[in-house]
This record gives sequence, structure tokens and C-alpha cells, in this order.
Amino acid sequence: MTVTAEPAGFTQTAHLSPVLKQATPVVVDHARGSWIHGTDGRDYLDFTTGIGVTSTGHCHPRVVAAAQAQCAKIIHAQYTTVMHEPLLELTAKLGPLLPAGLDSVFYANSGSEAVEAAIRLARMATGRPNIVVFQGGFHGRTVAAASLTSAGTRFSAGFSPLMPGVHMAPFPYAYRYGWDTDTAIDFALDELDYLFATRVAPDDAAAFLIEPVLGDGGYLPTPPRFLQGLRERADTHGIVLIVDEVQAGFGRTGKFWGHQHAPGLTPDILVTAKGLASGFPISAIAAPTALMAKAWPGSQGGTYGGNAVAAAAAIATIDVIADENLVENARVRGEQLLAGLRALAGRFPAIGDVRGLGLMAGIEFVIAGSGGRPQPDATAAAAVQRATTGRDLLTLTCGPAGNVVRLIPALIVSEDEIALGLDRFERACAEVFGDGDTLG
Ligand SMILES: Cc1ncc(COP(=O)(O)O)c(C=O)c1O
Repeated sequence: MTVTAEPAGFTQTAHLSPVLKQATPVVVDHARGSWIHGTDGRDYLDFTTGIGVTSTGHCHPRVVAAAQAQCAKIIHAQYTTVMHEPLLELTAKLGPLLPAGLDSVFYANSGSEAVEAAIRLARMATGRPNIVVFQGGFHGRTVAAASLTSAGTRFSAGFSPLMPGVHMAPFPYAYRYGWDTDTAIDFALDELDYLFATRVAPDDAAAFLIEPVLGDGGYLPTPPRFLQGLRERADTHGIVLIVDEVQAGFGRTGKFWGHQHAPGLTPDILVTAKGLASGFPISAIAAPTALMAKAWPGSQGGTYGGNAVAAAAAIATIDVIADENLVENARVRGEQLLAGLRALAGRFPAIGDVRGLGLMAGIEFVIAGSGGRPQPDATAAAAVQRATTGRDLLTLTCGPAGNVVRLIPALIVSEDEIALGLDRFERACAEVFGDGDTLG
């Protein structure tokens, strides 16, 4: 490498790093609601929502207005230096939405940071080192968050050593095992108890960390009885139960929080981000005041955490979700989406499983007729994802093997848009699997 004291000069051209991998070739000009308008002049129906972020749709007028107004007042009111009104108002608005007793809120910027804040709090509060996570979980890309992630080796390979003190137990992935859900739950809880007997003494365990629906790990709803089994063990052993609601929270699953599908379940720490501010970077953790008080003041912070414009957008997002009844819309439109996908599954043998909750729908592609355990078919999933883009429907893949296509429409999605998305998805499958004739 040549070392020079001179700047590169006017002749140098900079490029985006190849470490960024893009799922589609689309360059966005502008976007509204469920639609992205590309610089190529095409209108794309967006079933990716920036990976589950633009909850109220792209550029909801009330979110835009709130952010614009806040920009003109103050943009960056650094929260370890001065406090600002939007963060106080946001906290007050979150109060009634949070699980009972989780009345103390700390803000950061991204999901990864919030997950790390939750881990830091759990370790400080318990004085214990170990975190138990579940196979296929995704909790972020910063090094500690990646250490907690097992949604694919692509998230942690090549930059070890990872954070120590992370132990993994099986997730009740019934379809993969070829079992019914109850058998998978019994197995996973039994293996967790075995982990406690063999490797992690329960008194050394600070926290369980789990998503209510595995996101990047394959769009697998966590069975309520499994979550309740974790709650029981957490209570017995003084372990903190952290639910990572970064992708499943804020109405996406047809309830305000994903864990609410498990009746009566209350976590000790809730992590939220993504849908919270319709696209502005802000994240939060919530816990009982008594738990937060076990960490010392100043133990968490950050330059940009709880940004004023993002907080104003989050306030508007909460108002829009309430005024437009978007949690219920997510439930009803989610049922429409899953019903449509299940009807398709019969036509295409490569579709092994269709699952989801609310507006989180996963379609798992397998090698048809391979017998035994379903064999993941990442090539088919990638081909379908590409074919949907070709038909102006944006989708993403996920799952450790990359063989699941996920559909994540905005919470404002209409009945007609779901129907259109289903039609485009069906045509994309027909293009890939060679059954286009019957569609006309
Ligand atoms: C469940 C979950 N946790 C954490 C994260 C990390 O969030 P971020 O990408 O904002 O750091 C994600 C991101 O996809 C997620 O889905």
C-alpha cells in the first residue's frame, strides 16, 4: 500500500462497499404507502417495508408532518446532555402500550443496540454471566448482537472471537423436525432443562433472549406454550426473560406485541425498534423500574439515542396506528395473506410450509419429494424472490438456509393490495416452477 500525505484528489471515484448485498436492483425515486416508485419508472408493490420498518407505510403524511415540524424546532438534542419534549411525550405514550409493570424505558438507535442494552441490563441486574438464546434467533449484527444470533453462520462467520457467555438451546421448529407442534415444544423444553443440567447452571444464567416470531431465522412463530415454559423457568431460577420484539412488535403480528399471542405472558425486558417510528432510527428497551434501577445511572447512553426527530415520528406512528386501527388491519389482512398463500401451496410441491402471524408471512421452499426431513431449497426461494421483483412485487428471503421467502407488507396494506401481491406471487411461482399456462 502506498502511503501519501496528499488527498486522493479530483480523479478518484468512490463506490459503495461490496460488503453491502442488495436483494433487488431497485433504486428508489420516491415511495408512498405500500408502493415504491423506482428511478426505472416502475411502481413496485412493497412487501418488504424496509425489513418490517415502515409500519404506517412509506411517508405517511402525519409522520412526515411530525418529522418536518420537529426538524424546524431541534434536530439533535443530545439526551445525556439535555432532555427534549418528544422523548418525554413518546415515553408517556408508550406507557399504556407496554406490558404491565414495564414502566421504565431506555432509548437507543437500532435494534442491535437495544438488544445489547437489554443484555447489559440483565447481566448488571443479576450479576450473572450467561445468556441463553434459541437456534435460528436473529438479534442483530453488532458483535455482541451477532454473538447472540444463530439465524445463519453468515451473520457470525469470519470475525471471531464472538462474545462469550452465550449458550444455545433448540427452538421448537416443528416443520423441520417433521413433528407436530406439541412434540417439538416438549423436545425443546426438555433440551433446555438438559442444558441447565449439563452446561449452564441455572443460577449462572442472566437471561433468556427470544423473538416472538423468528424473523431472519425463517418467519417461525414461537409457540405460546414454549414461551410460557421459558417464563416458568425464568421465575423458578431468577432469570430475566427478554423478548426481542424488534421485528414482530408494534402491531405487525395482529396484536400490539408479538408475545401477547401467549396468553398471560409478561416479559421482564421488551426490546423494540423497526416499526416504532415508521423508518426513523430509534429503538427502546422497557423493563420494570426496579429492574432498571439495578444498573447504575450512566451505565447506558449514546450520542444519537432517542433522537428528537425520530421520537416525533414515533409519536405520530403511535397515533396513526391507533386512529387507523392498524393492529386489527394487520390481523385481518394477515389472515387474507396466509389463506391465499396456503391455497397456493397445494399447487406448487416446492412450497413445503406456509406460516406466519399477522403481516409476517413465510413460505418455505423444499426439494419436493426428497423424503425424510424436508430438504431446504434455497435456489428455488432465490428464484421466486427474483421473479417477484420482475413482476413488480418486492419480497425478501430468510432462514438459515435462505430457503424461505418472507412477505412483510405495511400495516396500512389494503385488501386489494394483498390480492394483487398474492396474484403476483402466484405468477412468480408459476414462472419458476413451470405452471404458467393455467394463469392466462
Ligand atoms: C428480531 C430482531 N432483533 C434485532 C435486529 C437488529 O436490528 P438492527 O438491524 O436495527 O440493528 C433485527 C433486525 O432485523 C431483528 O429482526
